Amino acid sequence: MVPFFLFSQYSIILIILLVILIVLVLYENWKTKQEKTSDDGLPQPPMPFKLPLLGHLHLMGGHEVPYQAFTEIGRKYGNVVRLQLGNVKCVVVNDQKNIREALVTKGHHFDSRPNFERYEQLFSGNKQNSLAFCDWSDVQRTRREMLRAYTFPRALTNKFYNLDFIIQEGVCQMVSEINTEKAISLKPIILRQCANIFTKHFCTKQFSSTNEKFLKMIGDFDDIFYEVNQGYAADFLPFLMPLHRRNLKRISNLTHNIRTFVLQDIIQDRYETFNLEDSPNDYVECLIKHVKTEAEFDWETALFALEDIIGGHSAVGNFLMKLFGFLVRESEVQRKIQEEIEGVVGAEGRNVGIGDRNRMPYIEATIFEAIRLIASPIVPRVANQDSSIDGFKIEKDSVLFLNNYDLSMSDKLWESPEKFMPERFIKNGHVIKPDHFLPFGGGRRSCMGYKMVQLISFGIIGGLLQHFTLVPSINESYNVPIGSLALPKDTFKFNFVRRERVFSNN
Ligand code: HEM
Repeated sequence: MVPFFLFSQYSIILIILLVILIVLVLYENWKTKQEKTSDDGLPQPPMPFKLPLLGHLHLMGGHEVPYQAFTEIGRKYGNVVRLQLGNVKCVVVNDQKNIREALVTKGHHFDSRPNFERYEQLFSGNKQNSLAFCDWSDVQRTRREMLRAYTFPRALTNKFYNLDFIIQEGVCQMVSEINTEKAISLKPIILRQCANIFTKHFCTKQFSSTNEKFLKMIGDFDDIFYEVNQGYAADFLPFLMPLHRRNLKRISNLTHNIRTFVLQDIIQDRYETFNLEDSPNDYVECLIKHVKTEAEFDWETALFALEDIIGGHSAVGNFLMKLFGFLVRESEVQRKIQEEIEGVVGAEGRNVGIGDRNRMPYIEATIFEAIRLIASPIVPRVANQDSSIDGFKIEKDSVLFLNNYDLSMSDKLWESPEKFMPERFIKNGHVIKPDHFLPFGGGRRSCMGYKMVQLISFGIIGGLLQHFTLVPSINESYNVPIGSLALPKDTFKFNFVRRERVFSNN
């Protein structure tokens, strides 16, 4: 035993402080354990041992994807678990039944989004400007209703045929641009085509591949997309925010550049010249008409909504890059896709179009399989009132993490979940989407872009694989990062081998 007198005065003070801290932590954790039931008699969800300041943030470390931590926590403590992440009270929800309860049955209790300062800063100091990060409101309901006709174009309508034409045109350009002599960086090509598909479909505006301002806008969106897909400890520990000021200022400059491009090169004089008697011809006119006729909707709100939607091209482009990152290692999957293409359009000697989707389940299934493996999270929800999930009390303002990573990757729900097997989504020649597969969330805050993802991805994969086979480039490793849609700016290179037997008329 060390004699007491060997300690300096400072050491003794330090030891006393440490003992006080330990007692406080133990007391805090004991108190939490005592709160087994809330005032309204509902049991509180279990809560693991927490540390001062960090709460449970330390449990998030050591995983490739933070949501893997939620699976682990779920296994140890139950399907509904209370966490304190820094200064934010959170609840982790595991299991399909409970996630559906939060998204659908009680969707109206959990339709807000977190108040992270980062979200505020990314949208000119007000997260309500954002389609995905705002809280629920009448404005959001209107924004979603206005978008529906454009992001979910119905088959056999003009909007659908136009979109088909736009996608095919983009694919033809890509096919003529792809150089089979060397390894190519596909991301700039894909992003540019996706951006043009979006600007043409939503804004009736197309840009040349050499338009510097257009290319800058694509780069700026990609940068922002990467940023919003990152998790920050500062979201939970706001005192760390100053460390991010410079980066956030940089991002805010990018959003400013985008606004200038949208006003000068996309909207131009359309706001002034739009005739209110006319029916809107595209999403831009739909927004203009609404602003001019409905009091609750101002031009600023409309511009933010438009920019959010144009930015959707980054989501599709990054997703496609990841999908090609999987496909390049899956020659058998490529062969089956090519066989399917030839079986449907080969005899007609034409290019693949989005109207062929119903007859090409294998491509559809490949898209689902890539989305499953990427396992991008559901944007966190926030309880707008006291509520419950699985009988446990959920306090108002709790941030909900709905663990769809587990739903996409659990070996209880999928056979060999780590393998790329599109067949798992096909039954009797038709695509099936299991109930536990929820990559686009659900309920009133569900993804507004999933149909665009499916249609554009279908058109581009079908179009490219009709003409080429994808092969790995020398020295390129194709480790597709999971847990988020975003990829860095410089990413995989691919080699393309032109197919000999292509039934195309271009
Ligand atoms: C593979 C690509 C994509 C994935 C995996 C994805 C997934 C998601 C998820 C999980 C949510 C949250 C849903 C919820 O809270 O229930 C969401 C929201 C949203 N997504 Fe997507 N998304 C993708 C692409 C897109 C695209 C291309 C667009 C635009 C055209 C888009 C527009 C939106 C919007 C506007 C919201 C917010 C809806 C709201 O909060 O009311 N998404 N997305």
